[in-house]
Amino acid sequence: MKLKIKLPLLFLLVFVLIIFPGTLFIKTLITTATPKSLRIFPSLLHFEVIFYLLFLTGLVFVILAIYLHFTITKPLQLLNTRLNGVNIRRPISSLSSRRKDEIGELYNHFNDMEDRLHRAHKEQIGMIAAMAHDLKTPLTTINGFVELLAMQKNLSEREKQEFYELILKKTKHIAELINAFSSFTKDELELEAINMKSYEARKLFENIAAEYEIELSGFNFELDWNHTFTANQHILINEHMIRRVFGNLFSNAVRYVDKRDLKVYMSGYVQGNNAYFLVEDNGLGVLDKELPLLFLKFFTVDKSRQNKSGGMGLGLASCKSIIEHHGGGIDAFHSSYGGLGIRFYLPLMK
Ligand SMILES: Nc1ncnc2c1ncn2[C@@H]1O[C@H](COP(=O)(O)OP(=O)(O)OP(=O)(O)O)[C@@H](O)[C@H]1O
Ligand SMILES: [Mg+2]
Repeated sequence: MKLKIKLPLLFLLVFVLIIFPGTLFIKTLITTATPKSLRIFPSLLHFEVIFYLLFLTGLVFVILAIYLHFTITKPLQLLNTRLNGVNIRRPISSLSSRRKDEIGELYNHFNDMEDRLHRAHKEQIGMIAAMAHDLKTPLTTINGFVELLAMQKNLSEREKQEFYELILKKTKHIAELINAFSSFTKDELELEAINMKSYEARKLFENIAAEYEIELSGFNFELDWNHTFTANQHILINEHMIRRVFGNLFSNAVRYVDKRDLKVYMSGYVQGNNAYFLVEDNGLGVLDKELPLLFLKFFTVDKSRQNKSGGMGLGLASCKSIIEHHGGGIDAFHSSYGGLGIRFYLPLMK
């Protein structure tokens, strides 16, 4: 039972406990007292009534204090101690409570918060490690070539030229990595204050599909689309950001294709209170174990393949962040068309 119901009930009980028997007791005293006894012991009667009421009030107060101590003060003290001891490096066992009231909810929220904190910390470490790895690889190559140029005095002009070009290519790659990273962090900051507008799901779907149909045909690729959205199904979105999500998904489909006849499938439907959007392809796809990792920052499936394609592993992380800022969710699955499928949903406006 919620505290907002428990506490008023408790006070009602206290009221009934004091007032009801109190009135009954006084009434009995008055009816059983003879005029003579009342004349002789009026103060005794008062004393008895006052004593009874004081005793009852005291008893109820003690019960109330014990009850409040165990139901409110103690759990809050425990939470306070835990808050003091929050440590992002060393997770402590989660606070357990079988209570279904506000305190139980508070404990659950605290556990969720601690969990998110640890995940964010792990992601941060992973992000730094991945960034260091991505920067280290081209830097090692540059270092190797510079050393060669400095040590080998008998290199031909042609060899020197080749090395300079490779160094230039690697420095450009580093610059690209840094640019991608800074635009990702810029997006994250922008997301903090985005403006949302109501948009018809059907209209958004059809506009995007029409645009990418033309774009993909430029690469000789095909887009197959269908939806079951109807009129007046609105979603609250920042169009620019949602377009960026579609942009990332379509660019991935084109980038990770292993054949000439790439086909992308875009579909949309409403389920429950959400509008669902799916982008699937018949390309390379990913392994089972990689599916849940795709949305982590800097995650790329195959490093050697990425170097060729130039991806940094931030596209899907950015999609996740944008969709979650819209109150939606995103996941990846094996498409029945053979490649990767990405599904995201956005809440419909009521
Ligand atoms: N449609 C797809 N088919 C196969 N693999 C994919 C597909 N989309 C993404 N992936 C895999 O998921 C990884 C993460 O994708 P993500 O878009 O986050 O990063 P990226 O494309 O490598 O780089 P960025 O988008 O930052 O330029 C990719 O490196 C790729 O290995
Ligand atoms: Mg990408």
